[in-house]
Amino acid sequence: MLIRPEDLQRVANMFMNAIHEDEVNLINELYTALKEKDLDKVDRLMEELSIDIEEHFSTEEEFMREAEFFAYPMHKADHDRMREEVNKVYKLYKRDRSIESVISFLEEKLVPWLKLHIAQWDSVTAMHIGD
Ligand SMILES: [Fe+2]
Ligand SMILES: [Fe+2]
Repeated sequence: MLIRPEDLQRVANMFMNAIHEDEVNLINELYTALKEKDLDKVDRLMEELSIDIEEHFSTEEEFMREAEFFAYPMHKADHDRMREEVNKVYKLYKRDRSIESVISFLEEKLVPWLKLHIAQWDSVTAMHIGD
């Protein structure tokens, strides 16, 4: 297990918490498949993760637009940076199927980013949009 659900700050919107919890489960599932070098499973879960992350980000962005949240451009910019990283690592994986690069992406980039991003952006966004 790479990340526990309680490692992520809870925010004031239950729907967002549910999205984050699902993402934690998916990340852990992918991490296990990588460690077990189960490439078929990694293929499937990488695809799932890239779809899941896009849905996660676009849902929050829709909430922000509906609520006319003032920090929308900054919050979205932080999503966009991670969208790019995810695309990059997924492309690389499809090209050379390097398990190591995905493992270090999860350990060093996605998980630390997720913790910080939720504390920095999602929490204040959730407070603004409410439950
Ligand atoms: Fe989020
Ligand atoms: Fe976010």
